[in-house]
Amino acid sequence: MDFLRSDDNVSKRINAMLERVRQAKDADLYYYNQPITELRGGARVLVHGREMGMFASYSYLGLIGHPKINVAAKAAIDKYGTGTHGVRTLAGTLELHVELEQTIADFKHAEAAITFSSGYVTNLTVVSTLVGRHDYVFSDKLNHASIVDGCMMSGARFVRFKHNDLDDLQRRLEEAPASAAKLVIADSVFSMDGDIINLPRLVELCRKHGAWLMIDEAHSIGVLGATGRGIEEHYGLGDVIDIKMGTLSKTIPSVGGYVAGRTDLIDFLRHASRAYIFSAALPPAQAAAANAAFKIILEEPERVEKLRANAEQFITGIKQRGFDTLYSETAIVPILCGEDMLAYEMTREVQNKDVFVLPVVSPAVPPGLARLRATVTAAHEPDEIEHAMNEIEIAGKKLGVIK
Ligand SMILES: Cc1ncc(COP(=O)(O)O)c(C=O)c1O
Repeated sequence: MDFLRSDDNVSKRINAMLERVRQAKDADLYYYNQPITELRGGARVLVHGREMGMFASYSYLGLIGHPKINVAAKAAIDKYGTGTHGVRTLAGTLELHVELEQTIADFKHAEAAITFSSGYVTNLTVVSTLVGRHDYVFSDKLNHASIVDGCMMSGARFVRFKHNDLDDLQRRLEEAPASAAKLVIADSVFSMDGDIINLPRLVELCRKHGAWLMIDEAHSIGVLGATGRGIEEHYGLGDVIDIKMGTLSKTIPSVGGYVAGRTDLIDFLRHASRAYIFSAALPPAQAAAANAAFKIILEEPERVEKLRANAEQFITGIKQRGFDTLYSETAIVPILCGEDMLAYEMTREVQNKDVFVLPVVSPAVPPGLARLRATVTAAHEPDEIEHAMNEIEIAGKKLGVIK
């Protein structure tokens, strides 16, 4: 490997990152990619040979391992094997994909839907296919990285408005030329903070300024709304979002991303999106699992109800213990620690007590706002939540995060 240099800027960047990793490992504070060896029921995992309560899961309704979903995935493998012959447009479209897209459209009360191989790719391709040079894209400051990347890739004028501050968005919309094509994008539930976008005002502003509205429902499907259908149901607004984006990797225990909306929008994406045309279709087992999962959300509404009760118990209990949970109203509960090191140390203390939580540090969140990013799911029982909160409280007092 003599040809590799070590004094250029790329090497310096690599070395700086690896040095940070080394320091974290040396201090026994490295929690990146911890391998889970077993899932034990919906809310317990085996990590490093120890069974822990899982408080870092995105499987909000506890659907991972649901028997009907596993049966559907296995049946798809028996019928189609594990691959899809490549990209959808050449040979890869299976009946399963068509069925899944119909299921998503029905679930979202939309005319049609299209799927992609990940949620990340969905945001990249949808934003960059719909807008480009001379257009304007307006994005909440706390939007997910995949939205930010999609905006940058599009080449459109990228305008970021203050988090959930729709007066700021209004000002920025007013500053843009009336004739420009405009797209406004926000997460429904923000992935690091757990708060909910003010959809009614957003819809009003988009209509007034002739802007298209795209909402990322990664953290609201199964979470918001009486039947778990998401943010429109939460606000009782009906079909008001032009581009209803979501992932198949969180509440839906599979992988992939989707957009639901008007038939003309979906047809356009099918013919113009490079990620659709040039990348392989979802594997059969994953498409079948996702298809089954959407149906189970509607068949087992008690899961949505239980998640809501669990989130309320967790947020209330953590706040009562003296922690700051920002504006979280959902299953994502930030537990503020402050400096990065404190978040790492809290993680170590809490994991040592067999509660699996993970830290989020800068640059993912602003410096000084490092946190445990805990989640609850419908698979937790109230006593498990109480136990986890007690351990978090003990650690918080020991490290001075709370009094
Ligand atoms: C808000 C949001 N959008 C998109 C994604 C990307 O989804 P996926 O993991 O399915 O690629 C995530 C994943 O963490 C997310 O939190």
